[in-house]
Amino acid sequence: MCGIVGYIGNIPAKGLLIEGLKRLEYRGYDSAGIAVLGDQGLDVERAVGRVANLEAKLESRTGFDGTLGIAHTRWATHGAVTETNCHPHTDNAGNICLVHNGIIENYAALRTVLGERGHEFRTETDTEVLACLIAELYEGDLESAVKAALKEVTGAYAIAVLCTQEPDVLVCARKGGPLMVGVGSGEYVVASDPSAIVAHTNRAFALDDYNVVRLTRDSIRTSTIHNKAVTPQMLQLNSELGQVELGSFDHYMQKEIFEQPRALRTTLRGRVDRDEGRIVLGGLLSHAKELVRARKFIMTGQGTALHAGMIGEYLFEDLAKIPTEVEYASEFRYRNPIVEEGTVVCAISQSGETADTLAALEEAKDKGALALGVVNSVGSSISRNTDAGVYLRVGPEIGVASTKAFTGQVAVLTMMALFLGRRRLTSVEKTKHMIAELESVPDKIEIVLEQADRIKAVTEKYVQRENWLFMGRGYNYPTALEGALKLKEISYIHAEGMPAAEMKHGPIALINDGMPAVFIANRGAQYTKVLANIEEVRARGGHIIAVATEGDKEIEQVAHDVLWVPEVAEPLSPLLTVVPLQLMAYYAAVLRGHDVDKPRNLAKSVTVE
Ligand code: AGP
Repeated sequence: MCGIVGYIGNIPAKGLLIEGLKRLEYRGYDSAGIAVLGDQGLDVERAVGRVANLEAKLESRTGFDGTLGIAHTRWATHGAVTETNCHPHTDNAGNICLVHNGIIENYAALRTVLGERGHEFRTETDTEVLACLIAELYEGDLESAVKAALKEVTGAYAIAVLCTQEPDVLVCARKGGPLMVGVGSGEYVVASDPSAIVAHTNRAFALDDYNVVRLTRDSIRTSTIHNKAVTPQMLQLNSELGQVELGSFDHYMQKEIFEQPRALRTTLRGRVDRDEGRIVLGGLLSHAKELVRARKFIMTGQGTALHAGMIGEYLFEDLAKIPTEVEYASEFRYRNPIVEEGTVVCAISQSGETADTLAALEEAKDKGALALGVVNSVGSSISRNTDAGVYLRVGPEIGVASTKAFTGQVAVLTMMALFLGRRRLTSVEKTKHMIAELESVPDKIEIVLEQADRIKAVTEKYVQRENWLFMGRGYNYPTALEGALKLKEISYIHAEGMPAAEMKHGPIALINDGMPAVFIANRGAQYTKVLANIEEVRARGGHIIAVATEGDKEIEQVAHDVLWVPEVAEPLSPLLTVVPLQLMAYYAAVLRGHDVDKPRNLAKSVTVE
């Protein structure tokens, strides 16, 4: 999605805004633009492609010495990726200038009405319509004009707005798209996420829906679009957010795959007590009774987070004996779901800003469900809109393809299942055993990571193949889906995941000579069934890449290539079996020469529907 940065203070805005855009570039990176309001008026520059292209264009520009400005990285929703469609956008007179993340759903109707009033449109964007609407309603006060305009629009927005007639004012507003305000001394930094703020201040607050904030160098006013005063809830930003460096790695995704052992140790730290057989999840204690007595859990999310939720379904029914369902958030939010008494909805999200997941949460709350969050980004919209929750604590995830957040989500869901199971039917002994197994996972992931070179060599054998299948059973059926998603989203190879048994109900027709078929074949309850599925694919010419348990001799008889993982309790096996799949996807993308951390068409956080 788009990234927004705004600044009002006492230093030149340009450098700060460009640095902020670089921090946000992973959110969306089709194009970028900047506007600075100074004594010489409004300076605007735009560039297609990466922020570096914008920076290069600025080197040959004069001006841009003002201390008030806004900037934007674009992930195109309306209009092609062209310089004309880059933000910032202005009204015809160039007085109102804004950047926008979100979608103005009624922009076409507004465009027609404004066109009849003489406004001309130079771009295909909904954002330009909003700039013209604010100009149309401007009567000398920018904040009032913004509020009046936002009452006319439907859809989602996070905006930062300048006006040439008010060179000391920055107005921001939000509905459905994340926007935070960093509070410095005599300065404010506004951004789509904290990573662009924390270099300047660790005091910040997040705007809630329908909030508008008016900033000057020495004042701040937060209210709703209906002029109701709002007292912001101040947050203390994690200073680590701004210090995400690549280190010795080639890509953030590679770094995040290899830091999973350390990240998971942090996720577990202080939350598992093996000696006592206890799980300590402070974020759930206030609702522990309701959770223990819950009649049903619904896991919801999108993409990788949904796959983690699918593993959560197995974990909760297996370890806590609680009926559990999983739903795509985008489906749940619109199908008028039946939410019975005693239902708990668990929203899973790395960013905590996924629009569909946030909306599904609201739908569930409206229907009386208790709302939980399993989220990585502290202070994110989802985390602020739940009754209780558990943070992943895996640290900022920059690579668009989610890796350590996935294993963090699965680890948290495992702890939640043990937390509830112990309070329901699980014995202390079994809980102690599972905690011991869980605590062994980081070391076991390190063993898997030691095979990275061999995993790269196996990937190289098949990297030119355009179609792969991923198959697993039980706990590792969702892992197969996750492996397919990883491969397709960064290598652009078509990959499909499915339950291994499902292959015979159609997809087996796809098998041709040498087709890579990845089977998750670790020692588990359905191991012999997976072996049978492998034989069926091999008999038709498929090439078998098996993820198997160390020491397994049978698998070597049927697989062309085997990627080994250590033995672990079956409910925890996805935490290990996913790692070779993450590495295969990574190496396939590198071997194909793609931009691993910023794959085409994708954004890190999908904050629009
Ligand atoms: C993960 O590799 C994908 N980039 C994507 O599916 C992601 O998991 C999904 O958009 C959900 O994001 P969230 O966890 O931030 O809500």
